[in-house]
Amino acid sequence: MEPDPKEAEFFRRLDADESIEPKDWFPERYRKQLIRMMSQHAHSEIVGMLPEGNWITRAPTFRRKIGLLAKVQDEAGHGLYLYSAAETLGISRDEMYQQLLQGQAKYSHIFNYPTLSWADIGMIGWLVDGAAIINQTMLAKCSYGPYARAMVRICKEENFHKKQGMEIVGTLMAGTPEQRRMAQEAFDRWWWPTLMMFGVPDQASPNSAELTRFKIKRKSNDELRQRYIDMKVAQAHAFGLVVPDPDLKFDDATGHWRIGPIDWNEFYRVLQGAGPCNRERLEARRQAYADGAWVREAAAAFEKKRRQKEETAA
Ligand code: 3HC
Repeated sequence: MEPDPKEAEFFRRLDADESIEPKDWFPERYRKQLIRMMSQHAHSEIVGMLPEGNWITRAPTFRRKIGLLAKVQDEAGHGLYLYSAAETLGISRDEMYQQLLQGQAKYSHIFNYPTLSWADIGMIGWLVDGAAIINQTMLAKCSYGPYARAMVRICKEENFHKKQGMEIVGTLMAGTPEQRRMAQEAFDRWWWPTLMMFGVPDQASPNSAELTRFKIKRKSNDELRQRYIDMKVAQAHAFGLVVPDPDLKFDDATGHWRIGPIDWNEFYRVLQGAGPCNRERLEARRQAYADGAWVREAAAAFEKKRRQKEETAA
């Protein structure tokens, strides 16, 4: 069967590393994969505000409170960026919201874990945002223009988030034995779940092959995970933290850190809703959506009035 000329042209442009823009023709599968990833990414940013927001009123100093406020506000902005970028694919923001609120859309599993102490805020900045940066730096080179451009801006702010987290962890590790214990206890809880942020193992991924062909993913899940492990193990040792993995060992032949097995059963349990905070996170988002109804109604009434004025003036 003759290849579809539009499809052939699309893949020629991909192979020439051209940026695909909203007005261009692209296959429905390309649109579906981008909507899946970009809407889940946006949901992750918005839900990710909840565990950190939990500590804004309890930050140990005014300076820490200001830094955390700024970070949480950034995450809201990242979510809005990504919803706007996803809208260029023809899905409405409200449709994406409904998918999340009805439990049909995913968000990063990592945000279903609780923030039990101030040290968790350091771990989220250092480890979670650190993982997001590695992933998002790759996505800044993805073939879809609006997503790649959104990543450039977001990565700059993520770097501030990561540095803020590292400074918190460094301060605790240079502090009292109680502060050091608090940081180690938080690290023990966040280490393994952050490794799962890079997606399932390559050979188990139903999406990676297609995402790679579409030049949305430029590196594999396991490649990015390994880069993260090599970076974070060295930083953990520099902090004086013990990596909670008895099988951890440095492989001189490859220059990489080798880890013990990741508990993918835990990952799928959390993904299917049995994580420590899944219910709480979704309830918080549903409540926020209900609380915001008056804003949507006021904006719709204003827009209706404006349209009526325009029509009578025409
Ligand atoms: N959390 C939730 N779901 C996950 C996941 C995770 N950590 N890892 C994988 N999954 C899901 C996938 O969505 C997929 O399910 P679906 O097909 O129903 O959507 C399934 O598990 C199989 O996983 P794959 O590895 O095949 O999925 P992907 O190829 O899409 O890779 C991903 C997963 C790396 C998360 C990729 O989707 C991605 O890069 N997404 C965009 C970036 C993103 O969403 N990052 C989330 C963190 S944002 C953040 O941390 C904000 C920061 O500011 C704090």
